[in-house]
Formats: sequence, C-alpha cells, structure tokens
Amino acid sequence: MENFTEVQWENWAESLAINDWLVIDNFLSRSNLTKLQDYLFSKLEEEEFRKAGIGALGDFTIEKEIRGDWIYWLNKNRDTEIASFFQLIEESIKYLNRLCFLGMADSEFHLAHYPKGTHYEKHVDQFNERSNRLISMVFYLNPNWKPEHQGHLRIYNDESFVDIEPIAGRLVIFKSEGVLHEVTYTNVSRYSLTGWLLRKPPGLGYLR
Ligand code: OGA
Ligand code: NI
Repeated sequence: MENFTEVQWENWAESLAINDWLVIDNFLSRSNLTKLQDYLFSKLEEEEFRKAGIGALGDFTIEKEIRGDWIYWLNKNRDTEIASFFQLIEESIKYLNRLCFLGMADSEFHLAHYPKGTHYEKHVDQFNERSNRLISMVFYLNPNWKPEHQGHLRIYNDESFVDIEPIAGRLVIFKSEGVLHEVTYTNVSRYSLTGWLLRKPPGLGYLR
C-alpha cells in the first residue's frame, strides 16, 4: 500500500483544482505495478477482454472508428488478487473528497488493451445520459515504452495540446467533465488500468 503523505495529497489536489489535470510518476510502487501487470496479462491470456463500446451502459454500440480498445471491467469482490489497488482507490477518494470538496462514493475501473494500430478519438469521459463521473484516473502499465510507440494520451486545452507517454507506474488524473482528450494511434500493444471516481447518487446524502 502506497500511503502517501498529507502534503503530497494537498499538492496533487491543488494542482488538479487549478489545471484540471495532473501527472504523477511512480504513483504505483514496484510491487503494485508488477501485481497489476501480472493480473492484466493473466486476464488477457484467459481471453477475458471484450471490445469496448461507446455511451452509457444501456446504450452500447461498438464503434471501431471511434475507439479501438479491449477492456476487462474490474470488480472489488471478484478481483481480490489486486486488493491493494482497490485500497489505493479508497485512499484517493478519501483525500480528494476532503481536499477538493467533492462527494465521491464509488468507483468503476477497467483494464484496457489497445492493440497495435488502434486509438480513441477526442472525447470527454462524462456521458450526457449518466453524468456521475467526476474524476478520471489512468494508470499506465507499459514497461519499456518508447516515444516512437506513439499511443500518447493527448490532453487538449483550447487549440493547443499536451502529449503524455503511457509509461509504467505513471498516473494521470483529470476532471471527467470538460477535459477533452484522445489516445493517439499506437504502434504497439498499449496497456492501462483506467477508471472513474463517481459522485454519490443524488438524494443519498439525505439518508445519511
Ligand atoms: C478512456 C481514455 C485514456 C488513456 O478510456 O476514456 O481516455 O490514456 N483513456 O488510456
Ligand atoms: Ni477518456
């Protein structure tokens, strides 16, 4: 378990509040990174990945042109081998709720594989029909990534953009609403663990 300091979380929360996104290198410890990589490759071998679709759950369409990744949705109760990852997400929710004044209660994460030659067109992560995604988190699991592999995360800011290499251990956090981004065509298989911290369902606050 990583156990970051209060000061580290304060810096990250401030950076997220000001810039809408931030990159944290070596967020995953060596052992956590290895565990996630091993788990991803075991699920790939078991052919548990499915072609990713577009839109909310009830509106599933496969659009090869828009999005080329294959995904495996994680479940805390089933995927117990990576319990330390779910603890890390709990810690993230706790600190970001407090430091960014957010009301997040849940999360959804999937492993992702972009085969060679695939991409994900420019988009925002919050669907219109279902706007409970507050914070996006992408953990990269690619050992030995080289710039010529492409497959960057491209984050847009008006007309300009920043390209982020998906190198192992790196975490990118951004606000799900409003941050336009894309995954550029990758020249090799590209692996990540991607997900969202979710707003408490409306009304639930009154029950507590
Ligand atoms: C997504 C996404 C970015 C990445 O899955 O919505 O934008 O770098 N992923 O994998
Ligand atoms: Ni996205």
